[in-house]
Amino acid sequence: MKTRAVIMAAGKGTRMKSRTPKVLHELCGRTMFEHVLESVRGAGADEIVALVSPDLKSHIEAMGVACIVQEPQNGTGHAMQLAMAGLAEEKGQILVASGDMPLVPASLLQDVVSAREAVSAPIALVSAHVPLPTNFGRIVRERGKVMRIVENADASETQRHIDEVNTGIYCFEEKALRRHLRTLAPNNAQGELYLTDCVAAIVAERGRVEAVLCDDRRLVMGVNNRIELSAARAVMQQRILDELMLSGVTIVDPATTYVDVQAIVGNDTVVLPNTHVRGKTRIGNGVTVGPGSYLENATVADGAHVWYSIVRDSSIGANTAVGPFAHVRLGTSVGANCKVGDYVELKKTKMGDGSKAQHLSYLGDAEIGEDANIGAGTITCNWDGKNKNKTTVGKRAFIGSNSSLVAPVTIGDGALTGAGAVVIRDVPTGERVVGNPAKPIKKK
Ligand code: UD1
Ligand code: CA
Repeated sequence: MKTRAVIMAAGKGTRMKSRTPKVLHELCGRTMFEHVLESVRGAGADEIVALVSPDLKSHIEAMGVACIVQEPQNGTGHAMQLAMAGLAEEKGQILVASGDMPLVPASLLQDVVSAREAVSAPIALVSAHVPLPTNFGRIVRERGKVMRIVENADASETQRHIDEVNTGIYCFEEKALRRHLRTLAPNNAQGELYLTDCVAAIVAERGRVEAVLCDDRRLVMGVNNRIELSAARAVMQQRILDELMLSGVTIVDPATTYVDVQAIVGNDTVVLPNTHVRGKTRIGNGVTVGPGSYLENATVADGAHVWYSIVRDSSIGANTAVGPFAHVRLGTSVGANCKVGDYVELKKTKMGDGSKAQHLSYLGDAEIGEDANIGAGTITCNWDGKNKNKTTVGKRAFIGSNSSLVAPVTIGDGALTGAGAVVIRDVPTGERVVGNPAKPIKKK
């Protein structure tokens, strides 16, 4: 049967107190909406539409999801009326999820779809037991059967003591949904159209309401303010770290380790405390990262060691050591068996295998050959006030301490610069230069 999914995300999210729409707030490297989208896709929805507020539309469309705009937001029933008006009539089912429930797993969405299909019920919903008091709508049962959902604002004192709540995840038979949406009326404390009123309407027709109880209430945690956002982030982070540990990664201190969902970490890699692994970072096998490191969209090959350092949008070769206190950024590629030591900044630089820059350097827009040695305090003067210029250093070159390489400039293979040299002209292969401006050493 064809399953179309509606992700509800038009709510104002005022409690976030943010200029950013609620579902675009991020946790573990993805927006809330993208987490839900991933689960809805994982549940096998054939088509997905999102209900959005006007300010959200362009962002969600950029994710490749069709949008239906709801303005003003007159409740979940109103939202679904608009969604169904925007979808061509078919003999299918409609899966409903909320854009503000980032922890919902695909398996739970699959469960509610299967539960409905198994008995061809007009509706299946996901409920959960939560601590009271709560703002969730309550599931009212009689003789064990779900009769209706009562919103907290409309509930009687007795109903407020019910701890089984509606998570807002449903699977509807499409025909039944369309029929009941037409009958909704705003006769309630909030003056809104409640999608949840469909439940009582289905029961009144002697339709069957299937309830799937989710036994881990954290999975259906909604995010309405930034306290809940941080709580959801913590749960998701633990989930990611648990998966990594079970796959063979040592996480010494999960409480101070932050790994995004898209990161990949290899076997026998050790992640030490106070470390962030962000974005599409790929870490190989047997790597040591941390303590105190920040990797973002970084690639780190097998056996490398990055400690107390930052690596962004760059790659580190096998068995290379980076840090402490190095900053590697913007498309830098460091080869295998290199050393990038303390207070070294690399920007848009390619370092050949076996090269070393161990102390206090800035290498920007540079290409360093294999086995070169960059002495302490070496600076590439890559910016002439108008343009960025390139520095090339040959294989096995020896750059003396405190050299300034004024780009554009090329130092040949095996060449040497003396300590404090200010190199403004190219240095041929094997040549040795000293001074300011650097000149070849006079042969006796
Ligand atoms: C709704 C349910 C409630 C359930 C709760 C779970 C109704 C009437 N109540 O509560 O039983 O416990 O969800 O979170 O349905 N939304 C729109 N347009 C609107 C209003 C809401 O798209 O006009 C979206 C929100 O963006 C959100 C979801 O619907 O993703 C739930 O809205 P929210 O306001 O959080 O929940 P309630 O309507 O209070
Ligand atoms: Ca809510």
